[in-house]
Amino acid sequence: MSKPVSLNVADQKLDLTVKDGTIGPSVVDIAKLYAQTGMFTYDPGFTSTASCESKITYIDGDEGVLLYRGYPIDQLAEHGDFLETCYLLLYGELPNPAQRTDFNYRVTRHTMVHEQMMRFFQGFRRDAHPMSVMVASVGALSAFYHDSTDIADENQRMIASMRMIAKFPTLAAMAYKYSIGQPFVYPQNDLDYTSNFLRMCFAVPTEEYKVNPVLSRALDRIFILHADHEQNASTSTVRLAGSSGANPFACIAAGVACLWGPAHGGANEAALKMLQEIGTVDKIPHYIARAKDKNDPFRLMGFGHRVYKNYDPRAKIMQKTTHEVLNELGIKDDPLLDVAMELERIALSDSYFIEKKLYPNIDFYSGITLKAMGFPTSMFTALFALARTVGWIAQWKEMIEDPGQKIGRPRQLYTGAPQRDYVPTHMR
Ligand code: SDX
Repeated sequence: MSKPVSLNVADQKLDLTVKDGTIGPSVVDIAKLYAQTGMFTYDPGFTSTASCESKITYIDGDEGVLLYRGYPIDQLAEHGDFLETCYLLLYGELPNPAQRTDFNYRVTRHTMVHEQMMRFFQGFRRDAHPMSVMVASVGALSAFYHDSTDIADENQRMIASMRMIAKFPTLAAMAYKYSIGQPFVYPQNDLDYTSNFLRMCFAVPTEEYKVNPVLSRALDRIFILHADHEQNASTSTVRLAGSSGANPFACIAAGVACLWGPAHGGANEAALKMLQEIGTVDKIPHYIARAKDKNDPFRLMGFGHRVYKNYDPRAKIMQKTTHEVLNELGIKDDPLLDVAMELERIALSDSYFIEKKLYPNIDFYSGITLKAMGFPTSMFTALFALARTVGWIAQWKEMIEDPGQKIGRPRQLYTGAPQRDYVPTHMR
C-alpha cells in the first residue's frame, strides 16, 4: 500500500490519496484539488495523467511488455487467434469451447451490412482515402441499426458491439473494392473471420478464390497485435465521446477519425511511404540526419512511442511475421525490407535514438507485410482500425459500465485576453 502524498499549497498542507494498481505505477487522486486549492493540474498530452481505471490492457514501457487481460501479447499471438482475443478483451477471460463456438456464431451472424449501405458508398469519389470512407460508414451504421443504440440497455450494447466487430471487415473490404472499381464481395460465413476478410478484399466474380492459410494466419496475428493498447489517443477519443452518452457507432467512428493521424495509426502508411522515399540503403544516413535535425520536421515514421522506451513487443512479432509472409510469397529480396532493417540497425546504434529511447514501433514493419499481401498503402490504417475496433469497444463498454462514470470535461490554463468591452466598428 503506497504512502499518502502531501502537497504544500500556500499555508495549506494537503494529504492526497494514492491508489495502487495490480501492477504498474500508482496514481495520486487529485479529483478534489481544485475544490481545495482553486488550482488545476497541467499536463498537455497527458504524459503523467491517468484518465481512468481499467482492467483490460497493461503496458510496461520500460520492459517492453504488453498484456491483454494479463496474458502476454507474444503468447496470444503465438497460440491464439483474433476472435479469441476479441472475446478475451470484451469478457476478461479466455473462452472455453462452448463460449468460443457461441461467440463465433454471434459474430458470423452479423457480417453482412444493410443492402442500402451500397448506395451510401456510391456517394464517394473512387479515389477517396479508405479512412474517409470508414469514418463515414462506421458513423452511418447508427442510421441503420437504431435497435442497438440505447447504451443503457446491456443487450443493445452487446448487439452493437457484435455488429461493429462483424461489420468492420465487410465495410473495409467494400472501401477497398470501391477504390479499385471492383464489385463488392459478400461475406462467406463458412470461412474464419480473417479468411472471410481476405476473400472479400481479393476475390473476383470471375474465378474461384482460395485463401492462402499462411497469409490468413499472418493477418490474423497482425490483428491480434493491433487489438488494444491502454488509453492511446484513439481509445481516449472513444472514451470521451462515449462519456457524453453518444451512440456506440458514433463513438467508434470518432476513434477511427483519431487513429487516422500520422502520429498514431496513420504511421504505418507514413512509414512505408518514408521507406519508399528513402529508396536505397545508401540514402539512410541523410534521413537519419534529418530526423535528428531540430529545424527539420521530418521524423522516422514507425519509430518512437509515448509509452515504450524499450522495443515495442509487437514490433518484434511483426518483424517475424514479415519474414514469414515474404517467404511464403517467394519474395526473396524486398528492397523496402533491406532499407527497413538497415535503418533499424543504424538507428539503434545512434546516440540520438539511444538517448531518446526511440525504438521501432508496431507501424515500422507492418506496412511491408501488408504491401506484400497485396494491400495498397492507403488501406493500411483501415486494417489497423479493423483490429482496434474490439479494443475501442471493450474500453467503451468498461467506461459505460463503470458506476462512477461521468462526462469527461478537462479544464485549461487560460492565457488569452482579460475581460474587455466591445468596441464599435467605427472606433477600431
Ligand atoms: C501508435 O499510444 C499508443 O499506444 C499508440 C499505438 C497504439 O497501439 O495505439 O502504439 C500506435 O500510434 C504507434 C506510434 C506511431 N507513430 C509514429 O511512428 C510516428 C513517429 N513517432 C513520433 O511522432 C513520436 O515518437 C510519437 C508521436 C509516437 C510519440 O511522441 P511523444 O511521446 O510525444 O514524444 P515526443 O514527440 O515528445 O518525442 C520525444 C523526443 C523529441 O525530441 P526532443 O524534443 O525531446 O528533443 O524524441 C524525438 C522528438 O523530436 N522523436 C523523434 C521521433 N519520435 C520522437 N525523432 C525522430 N524520429 C522519431 N520518430
